[in-house]
Amino acid sequence: MVIETVGVVGCGLMGSGIAEVAAKAGFDVVVREVSDELIEGGRDRIRKSLDRAVERGKLTEADRDAAWSRLRFSTDLSDLADRHLVIEAIIEEIAAKNELFSALNDLCGPETIFASNTSSLTITDMAAASGRVDRVVGLHFFNPVPVMQLVEVVRTIATSDEAFDAVYAFAEALGKKPITAKDNSGFVVNLLLVPYLLDAIRQLERGVASVEDIDRAMMLGLGYPMGPFALCDFVGIDTVYRISEIMFDEYRESRYAPPPLLKRMVSMGRFGRKTGKGFYDWSGDRPVSVPL
Ligand code: 3HC
Repeated sequence: MVIETVGVVGCGLMGSGIAEVAAKAGFDVVVREVSDELIEGGRDRIRKSLDRAVERGKLTEADRDAAWSRLRFSTDLSDLADRHLVIEAIIEEIAAKNELFSALNDLCGPETIFASNTSSLTITDMAAASGRVDRVVGLHFFNPVPVMQLVEVVRTIATSDEAFDAVYAFAEALGKKPITAKDNSGFVVNLLLVPYLLDAIRQLERGVASVEDIDRAMMLGLGYPMGPFALCDFVGIDTVYRISEIMFDEYRESRYAPPPLLKRMVSMGRFGRKTGKGFYDWSGDRPVSVPL
């Protein structure tokens, strides 16, 4: 099976990035959100990102216009009925994802493959609820989607070779460098990244060093583009918390347990860059760490 038409459900940070790279790679894309307001937000984000690529000389104006013309936006789930592949990038709640796939199963033809961009839930649970166990695949992108080269392509014990191969080829056609992962919570990257981020918070709680110095240490000592606290703010404190809860629930290992400071930050609405404040205050020209 060759994928030519794509649906993206959810047009937040990840969904808009996925829709953008798919349209740039020549796919016909329908993006679905639940309200006109959310569609406006996603449409703006994609347009700005495409315009910035033109300004930086990475995309010609003609290629930007062609990509833009391949994108359609809708609040109606039935507009995804004719898609070869539907990728969900909605809230990280298993009940919401199961409900979505079950509704899509009624709308889409039997050939349509469903993919989830989940970061920590298991694809098996969604496949079981989808009504088409052999055609559900994990397709985990990284933020910022237009920049990060990796995509984790995930199969369950029930995924057919045909569906898996088609989605793997799709990831390559996006210009990404896919890897294959088994369906375990966190796949490969988050399995290793999440304990690292949580450990950094635990060391901060212990008073090992300041936010800036821990970040500087990991950047300059290991050549990482961002230290763990800047990365937490970038990914979203609420997202890191949610992922760690899901992974702790799955593995019951203390290294996935959310540290108290992370919980307090979520309660205070300090979600990182998207709310202006997390471990750093992002409102100025450069981030400045805030008292915690
Ligand atoms: N969209 C498109 N392009 C972007 C972008 C965005 N949102 N943000 C940055 N870029 C591009 C810039 O245009 C620039 O491209 P150029 O060099 O070709 O002109 C390039 O990325 C570098 O950007 P900047 O010079 O502005 O800034 P940096 O050098 O600091 O890079 C960064 C920014 C790419 C975000 C870099 O800091 C980085 O790689 N950080 C780590 C990101 C990371 O680890 N992501 C994974 C998070 S985990 C995850 O997503 C999984 C989930 O399940 C939790």
